[in-house]
Amino acid sequence: MVSRVIPVDPFDLVVFGGTGDLARRKILPGLFRRFCAGQMPAEAQIIAAARSEMDAEGYRKMVRDAINEFDGQRPDECPELENFLSRLNYVQVDAQGDGGWQELKEMLRKDTVKAFYFSVAPSLFGDIAERLKNKGLAKRDARIVVEKPFGRDLASAQALNKSLAAYFNEDQIYRIDHYLGKETVQNLMAVRFGNMLFEPLWNSQYIDHIQITVAETVGVGGRGGYYDKSGAMRDMVQNHLMQLLCLIAMEPPSRFEPGAVRDEKLKVIRALEPVEPHHIARGQYDAGAGEAGYREHAEDPRSRTESFIALKCHISNWRWAGTPIYLRTGKRLKARTSEIAVVFKETPHSIFDEDAGRHRNILTIRLQPNEGMELGVTIKEPGPGGMRLVDVPLDMSFSDALGPDADEVPDAYERLIMDVIRGNQTLFMRGDEVEAAWAWTDPIIQGWETRNEVPKLYDPMSSGPEDALMLMHRDGRKWREIKA
Ligand code: BG6
Repeated sequence: MVSRVIPVDPFDLVVFGGTGDLARRKILPGLFRRFCAGQMPAEAQIIAAARSEMDAEGYRKMVRDAINEFDGQRPDECPELENFLSRLNYVQVDAQGDGGWQELKEMLRKDTVKAFYFSVAPSLFGDIAERLKNKGLAKRDARIVVEKPFGRDLASAQALNKSLAAYFNEDQIYRIDHYLGKETVQNLMAVRFGNMLFEPLWNSQYIDHIQITVAETVGVGGRGGYYDKSGAMRDMVQNHLMQLLCLIAMEPPSRFEPGAVRDEKLKVIRALEPVEPHHIARGQYDAGAGEAGYREHAEDPRSRTESFIALKCHISNWRWAGTPIYLRTGKRLKARTSEIAVVFKETPHSIFDEDAGRHRNILTIRLQPNEGMELGVTIKEPGPGGMRLVDVPLDMSFSDALGPDADEVPDAYERLIMDVIRGNQTLFMRGDEVEAAWAWTDPIIQGWETRNEVPKLYDPMSSGPEDALMLMHRDGRKWREIKA
């Protein structure tokens, strides 16, 4: 029912950094799955461009191994692996010099969609963009794809935007936030704007508060070096949680198309108020449960970087004034789960006895795992003996509702790469959106840096530091339990 596959046009996709971790884990296995699904046409060509000396055969072997390692049983299920590998090519290029660019140019074909994926350090974005343009590889219809981190503060994001804008127009630049490619994240828009039911209640008159949680069980592991310069605020909040917040809070766009959707998201970010220091709780996971603690992973015994953050945000506009949005994300927590809970207000007056208790509806959108929606409704507790009320869930798991095909949906990277080839920017971040998100994030980070704040330790496999619980308790509210 769900997997209606429409093949994209033939394309040449050049992956700079094609031998790197992201390419091996996500980009190539994802393209292979689209090939098996019949969405990537047989005439497509993927060219890896990287520093290492290698030939096409060597690259194919590397990708075969990567697919076997990162794509489970898929190669057996899809007998097309050799066919897919034959679409791959390799060229050695010097991103900051002249070597390899002419060879790359000769590999590109006329009359195919051209996309250039920058799966490299952001410090190389400008150099690659310049060479693509000046050496005549990228014409007006070419697209470039860039990954997060898109800067580490407003100034660096502006500089990156400027270095790309010198050679490409905004409608050619696809900034990836892989959360926007997740099926259930897009479902947020379908739920809000495809139903009459929710929109009339979607405001501060009826909604008490919203909680957004993205919890992970993994630690920073081998990424300690990168992560320690970043922290949960830069790594998750500025981008992924911000996108979730935008989708849950934005006004209905006039159409589901790039300009309209991104304009509305931008308005939300610009309406975010600065966050008060006492509305922030930061934490660092301790050693335990058979693993080292954060500081050991980060290889800095004095690190002040947070692996957990919770904060309370306010959006100053008519729809949301007075309804706080609480964000929480962290590593080494008790379950891997991402969800958005919309907590409605209590009824204005209860016709029942005190004993019946006061109840509220909660709409929970589960992003992962077990994607679905649950609406808590209040009903009468069965049996005689008066009117006692109880909350029960109207629970819908998308895979139950949509059948086995629901498991076949493309993962975030697969979908986003296909959108690049189609030329659809709706699920990508625009330059002004990224800058606005940094403009809100910067003073928060500067605040705790100036105050020399040290994050509080929390137990691994817990719900985070005590301060995060207090953030809610002070407001007479409580976090939903973190459970898979
Ligand atoms: C990445 C972050 O962008 O998202 C990681 O850099 C994080 O630190 C990951 O683990 C989470 O993504 P997902 O899809 O597993 O929820």
